[in-house]
Amino acid sequence: MSQIRNIRRVVTGSNQVDGAGVHLVRVLGPDTTKEFDPFLMLDAFDSRNPADYIKGFPWHPHRGIETVTYLIAGDIEHGDSLGNKGHIRDGGCQWMTAGSGIIHQEMPQASPRMLGLQLWLNLPRQDKWVRPRYRDITPDLIPKVAEAAGTVGVISGRYGKARGGTQGDYVQTLLLDVDLKPKAAWRLPVDAQSTLFIYVIEGSGTLGDPPQRVESRRAVLLGEGDEFSGQAGPEGMRFVLAAGRPLHEPIAWGGPIVMNTREELDQAFAEIDQGTFIR
Ligand code: FE2
Repeated sequence: MSQIRNIRRVVTGSNQVDGAGVHLVRVLGPDTTKEFDPFLMLDAFDSRNPADYIKGFPWHPHRGIETVTYLIAGDIEHGDSLGNKGHIRDGGCQWMTAGSGIIHQEMPQASPRMLGLQLWLNLPRQDKWVRPRYRDITPDLIPKVAEAAGTVGVISGRYGKARGGTQGDYVQTLLLDVDLKPKAAWRLPVDAQSTLFIYVIEGSGTLGDPPQRVESRRAVLLGEGDEFSGQAGPEGMRFVLAAGRPLHEPIAWGGPIVMNTREELDQAFAEIDQGTFIR
């Protein structure tokens, strides 16, 4: 007998300006790490006005985390201290493992609409010092499974027989882009030990049993159970579903760096000052 997960917490987030002047909605952050472990941060972007984002995120460091940038629409030019450069474009995902340290920039380009999100995934203590790398998960690496209820894009993990562009190297992560047709119901067996949340990009609907309403632009944490159940409202519902097992480790978070202890943070910032941050 399966247990359907019900809503545990709904997070609306707040409008913020970050980087050199990028307007975004910070949905998850330092206040939500306990319940959303291993997910640290979620920023959501949705703008038709390039002035909201064109200033971008110039050169900045990261250590101890993975940043997952998924763009439904838009164009982000990026470059990093490993010498990589390129673009994340409509339907693509960049999965960057900062590991021991990387310095990069992320510069959104003017486009008709920038719609997407950046999710920070914590690295387990033993993996915080791995070599930095990134995966360029281009749209062709994201299977789109068409079903009666809608379309499921598999960014990471498995959905039925479809395998995403990664499985998650350090935290096994299920990351799906689920686009439900109006009034369509959709169910998914899920790992009972994982933290699972959705971020509703567009539309609305209900989750759980008995069904509870969810609105767009909310992160919705689901409680215990081994099955996800959702139904779209009359205008359909598009959401990103993320699941991964919690790390249960202490978190020391300083801006773009997330370690386990205050000393490790101090060390990181001292290394940035001294120019020894990149290994
Ligand atoms: Fe970054």
